[in-house]
Amino acid sequence: MIYQVFLRSFADGDGDGTGDLAGLRSRLPHLAALGVDALWVNPWYPSPQVDVGYDVADYRDVDPVFGTLADAEALVVEAHALGLRVLLDIVPNHTSDAHPWFAAALAGDAAARARYLFRPGRGEHGELPPNDWESCFRGPAWTRTTDPDGRPGEWYLHMFAPEQPDLDWRSPEVRAEFLDVLRFWFDRGVDGFRIDVAHGLVKAEGLPDADGRDRRSEEHPGWDQDEVHEIYRDWRRLADGYDPPRVFVAEAWVARPERLPLYLRADELHTAFEFEPLHVTFRAGPWRSVVDEGLAKAAVTGAPSAWALTNHDVVRQVTRYGRAQPERRASNEEQRARFGVDPVDLALGRRRARAAVTLTMALPGAAYVYFGEELGLHEVEDIPDDRRRDPIHARSGGTDPGRDGSRVPLPWSGTGLGAGFSPVAVEPWLPQPAGWAELAVEGQETDPGSTLWLYRTLLAARRAVMTAAGPLVWLDAPADVLAFARGPVQCWVSFAAAPVPLPPGRVLVASGAHPDGLLPPDTAVWLLPGEA
Ligand code: NOJ
Repeated sequence: MIYQVFLRSFADGDGDGTGDLAGLRSRLPHLAALGVDALWVNPWYPSPQVDVGYDVADYRDVDPVFGTLADAEALVVEAHALGLRVLLDIVPNHTSDAHPWFAAALAGDAAARARYLFRPGRGEHGELPPNDWESCFRGPAWTRTTDPDGRPGEWYLHMFAPEQPDLDWRSPEVRAEFLDVLRFWFDRGVDGFRIDVAHGLVKAEGLPDADGRDRRSEEHPGWDQDEVHEIYRDWRRLADGYDPPRVFVAEAWVARPERLPLYLRADELHTAFEFEPLHVTFRAGPWRSVVDEGLAKAAVTGAPSAWALTNHDVVRQVTRYGRAQPERRASNEEQRARFGVDPVDLALGRRRARAAVTLTMALPGAAYVYFGEELGLHEVEDIPDDRRRDPIHARSGGTDPGRDGSRVPLPWSGTGLGAGFSPVAVEPWLPQPAGWAELAVEGQETDPGSTLWLYRTLLAARRAVMTAAGPLVWLDAPADVLAFARGPVQCWVSFAAAPVPLPPGRVLVASGAHPDGLLPPDTAVWLLPGEA
């Protein structure tokens, strides 16, 4: 189980209201007690923080807001001493516009320009973007530059914000630079990387129009090009040269499921996120398909599934499951469109989220858990517009609230401004909602019914009985119930409206109350059948 540390919001050590490495280091015992195996830390590099650090200005250092390189090195040593491995986040698709390469490119340095995707505009005076691609953050994926003499110049490509210019991965300099960056961190003991936008690095030759194709469901010249795999073969060779070998997990959104295994060939990446749990509805059939499809991919590749339960880009599970459930899935945009208009029952959402994590932790493979899920945090839907930071909010003209609601600082204790997030009472970088302190770590630590206890129990049981439990076998179960065995252990999950009978046996872990012999709605258990 890999715990995603959203560094800005995990713990603040220096009292400025923003999370940092000192805060994370001081809270490593929390993560060790939780029972996690590794951390994935979101980008900590120097950055203007336009996109919470996914706009990197220097890949070999730490942003002063988070600490120093020495803090980063100390974190790795301390985490290792507690048995926790450390994965960083590498952002190879784009740099920040504050990166020295981009500054040199804008100043007209031809070698620097060749590392990005500058193109002349279309139209009589070059006033139209070079092609029709859209930014994932809304609006065109191109911004026009001004030449040093003040005249309108070429355009540059940015699949995300304009402050995130895309690199040209056909440039040998770009390739060499990132191998060197990986080496820099591997040499400091970092165990591996989560690769941001792993499917986006190479664009189709000539940058042809997409002609209205939807990047999420159709082949698109901006994404998932075959040449990207050469890059990962180089990266794998580098990682394999270390002792122990370093590892990768890809963030690769592919339009067709059969494209994902290509990233997981034996000489490429070790794992790639299985994203469907982020979108699946709380219903038996769709969840079963998600599991089957994920395991089918793992069978093809031999790579373990990497189940993503939630992350910093999606609506928190408690809120997602606290609403009326769609038939099969809902995209993030659809989820966020429900903010403030569609009622949410957080108690129901929390019950279902607990059942979903109990199910996921019983699956073969790795599971990624986003910070705060272990407390049952919900999405904060009512952040005032002037406090929102995600560029999606501004770029959508305010029609999409963006991703800030899942990034609100963690409540550590039940008192004061910031709920223990900072060592002093200070307003956190994003406002915490009323009642946040009631979800704090401190209070949950002493409450056996809390979500924190459920996570600890699950992770201990997972280590004890699931790690070597073998393949998943579906069992017969009543309508709207999923049941599977892994070796001697069974997992039962009810999506039904009324309680259903359970086979006789000993319950090892339960996501909620379970009267003898019955599995209530929205509940999951691990069971050793036949045992008293
Ligand atoms: C994916 C990251 O998860 C997301 O937070 C970021 O905005 C984009 N990549 C751009 O780097």
